Amino acid sequence: MRFPRRLTHDHAQRLEAGLLRRVRTAGDAQPGRIVLDGRERIDFGSNDYLGLARHPRLIEALDDAATIGVGARASHLLGGHHDAHEALQRALAEGSATARALLFSTGYMAATGALSALPGRHDLCVQDRLNHACLLDGARLAGAELRRYRHADAADAARQLASRPDRRAMLVSDSVFSMDGDVAPLAELAALAQRERAWLMVDEAHGLGVLGPAGVAAPARRLAWPRTRFPWDGHAGQGARRLRCGDRR
Ligand SMILES: Cc1ncc(COP(=O)(O)O)c(C=O)c1O
Repeated sequence: MRFPRRLTHDHAQRLEAGLLRRVRTAGDAQPGRIVLDGRERIDFGSNDYLGLARHPRLIEALDDAATIGVGARASHLLGGHHDAHEALQRALAEGSATARALLFSTGYMAATGALSALPGRHDLCVQDRLNHACLLDGARLAGAELRRYRHADAADAARQLASRPDRRAMLVSDSVFSMDGDVAPLAELAALAQRERAWLMVDEAHGLGVLGPAGVAAPARRLAWPRTRFPWDGHAGQGARRLRCGDRR
């Protein structure tokens, strides 16, 4: 089948299966509500948990930043990393008591950036079945062998890790799962990773600033686990830049 015909065919199939998604334009509404297709509704789909998207101090800071321009003018490695980026990275690292923070433009980039760099080709990457797609994509980019365990089931994660005892392994989980809102069994996963000498990566996209004491202390940070390398990443909801923090020592 020629390419355009195949596209038409695939499109029709998706439409019939009810799998076709479309972008809807959201109008302005009060916090907690959303106007979609001209109708106001309760907004259950937002990730602006901390109310940062319209926070007056952030709006003010954005106004100030606009005076120095609206683009970095180059990629970060080539002169696009400005004082403001550096200051934000340092503040984020300090605020979350980690050695380093790295900014990415989106959560998707943070996850694929970290995961395509950390495991090597043919390493084992064991992930929760309901992890966000960017974590799965990151493992694929790395060329790692991807295995998925039953949702929030540390025993199944252990079985997957045990299936390849000869491989270096990495265990990856969301902390708070975006669709169901439940929390991963992080203490069990941490113990398992420590026992099996695997790395553990926790995506805090929906946990950072929401769970744990003092806001920024997300659930993963409460694991007393000093000797383990613990890269974790997250975003503080809409309106904030994403970060990925380095080793926790
Ligand atoms: C756990 C998790 N990681 C990463 C992302 C991707 O974030 P972004 O939409 O900023 O690319 C999401 C999106 O909601 C997510 O739920």
